[in-house]
Amino acid sequence: MEEKIITAENAQPEKRKKILSCIQPSGIPTLGNYLGALKNWKLLSDEFDSAFAVADLHAITVRQDPQKLRKQIMEVFALLLAIGLDPEKNIVFIQSQVPAHAQLAWILNCYTQFGEMARMTQFKDKSQSHADNINVGLFSYPVLMAADILLYQADLVPVGADQKQHLEIARDIANRFNGIYGKTFTIPDPYIGKQGARVMSLQDPTKKMSKSDPNPKSYVSVFDTPETIMKKIRSAVTDSEGGVYYGDGKDGVNNLMGIYSCCTNLSYEQIEREFAGKGYGDFKNAVGEAVVEELRPVRERYEMYMKDQAYLKEVAAKGAATASRVADRTLSKVMKKCGFVLP
Ligand code: TYM
Repeated sequence: MEEKIITAENAQPEKRKKILSCIQPSGIPTLGNYLGALKNWKLLSDEFDSAFAVADLHAITVRQDPQKLRKQIMEVFALLLAIGLDPEKNIVFIQSQVPAHAQLAWILNCYTQFGEMARMTQFKDKSQSHADNINVGLFSYPVLMAADILLYQADLVPVGADQKQHLEIARDIANRFNGIYGKTFTIPDPYIGKQGARVMSLQDPTKKMSKSDPNPKSYVSVFDTPETIMKKIRSAVTDSEGGVYYGDGKDGVNNLMGIYSCCTNLSYEQIEREFAGKGYGDFKNAVGEAVVEELRPVRERYEMYMKDQAYLKEVAAKGAATASRVADRTLSKVMKKCGFVLP
């Protein structure tokens, strides 16, 4: 039998994998968002077909001031460009400008069980912290997130560790739908970085660093000035023991080591060696400086983009048009399978 020779002409190119991820515009993004998610988005965006969005529909599950929300949506959109995402190569968009997200979310709601949503830890936490507004959107939030992911047939979803449970439910919903109607959705895998997947609060290192924390000393915002970053890291809670090493009961130091490792690519062993015999003062200064340098180019580009709101709006509109083309393809497929009559 003649041996088949693979050439550039007959090669079956391996299908490029797809990634999608989103960030809520519910406050100024933190170092946690950056190290846990955004930094990986940029790294992966060269290798994959990528779509990234500002998840503004998700943000209204908690009451927002409209003026502030409008401003924050554009700030976070500018941040996506500032971290280096190229809107010519990646789809960068604002979720609410692509109607298919809300449409698919409604359909998927009808394929999701009440009990599944009631188990979500983020729902339980948020219904405690927003006890006066436990709305149905907050309850079915993970279904909208599943719609975001499944519309783009994403293979991989780069997120921080706190989103793992939501990813699992997205997989369950996709498997259920595929089981009823035949293969419709790609089953997405979470991509959670080894380092930075869970950056903790600087004031209570047993809690996740969060942009909605009322105490601004608990987080570094990606737009903080170098002076503010240094001040916040210097006042981070550590322990009275004094040694820079990774260990049990050293949540504050462990957290700072994680942050330092993400910014410098040094391993924990290398960090321990660097600070052997030194105190927390030296260590915190080094962590602060590393964070300042990590965020400096992001903040500079962000300031540049924010000066040109017309450009940002134009890029967002183009991104939404491209995203809609991709998302509508999946939505039509789903609607046909469910038995709707398409125009
Ligand atoms: P959000 O807006 O809370 O956070 C955006 C991303 O940042 C990660 N993150 C963290 N990573 C490490 N340490 C932390 N302290 C930290 N805080 C936040 C989050 O894991 C996330 O990856 N539901 C999502 C937004 C969303 C989404 C999606 C994500 C909507 N649709 C579809 C992926 C796919 C959220 O609230 O992320």
